[in-house]
Amino acid sequence: MCHNLGGKTFLNEVTGMTGKNKAHSLWLAGASGICAVLALSFAFAGRAAAADDYKPWVAPEDARKVKNPAPATPENLAAGEQVFHDNCVLCHGEKGAGDGIGGKALNVKPANFTDAKLMSAETDGSLFWKIGEGRLPMPPWKDILTEKQRWQVVDYLRKLTQDANAKH
Ligand code: HEC
Repeated sequence: MCHNLGGKTFLNEVTGMTGKNKAHSLWLAGASGICAVLALSFAFAGRAAAADDYKPWVAPEDARKVKNPAPATPENLAAGEQVFHDNCVLCHGEKGAGDGIGGKALNVKPANFTDAKLMSAETDGSLFWKIGEGRLPMPPWKDILTEKQRWQVVDYLRKLTQDANAKH
């Protein structure tokens, strides 16, 4: 994403930066598409629900029931991993623990996909719906990622949960 930034991804740009360079990069990122969504997300972060009036985020019942049409094949997982790397790591962190560099600036913490309890309360359908709709500061992805990509990234979120909780 943010291919206008000299071919490097926005994430790489931000991750490699500190201090005022980072702010500059976020401003630059406002220039197009997905970057505009992200910039907006950060701009509104201060206005999103503060921790003390946080309401749990629940997907509608009919969205919860939708079945995942993309089985967790190696192909779908690889595609989902790519989507996650390009768009989600910034806030949710490399391994999905909710510890991304961008998330630190937000007053609503990005979800932790390594939390097996949180993830078992969600169906694939509800994860898919939340990814599509967003809730500030989480951007909506339905106009940026295809349906297929959103299901593939759901597969990858399941893998992150499994990997984090695998018995060694
Ligand atoms: C700008 C930071 C940001 C980015 C980028 C981001 N998220 Fe989020 N995400 C959040 C925050 C913050 C929450 C918690 C929102 C809340 O609970 O109100 C969240 C919540 C979620 C949830 C809901 C989890 C649950 O069980 O309720 C899912 C699923 C999710 N994100 C997936 C993704 C995916 C997939 C991507 C990449 C395509 C992504 N997010 C990119 C910030 C972000």
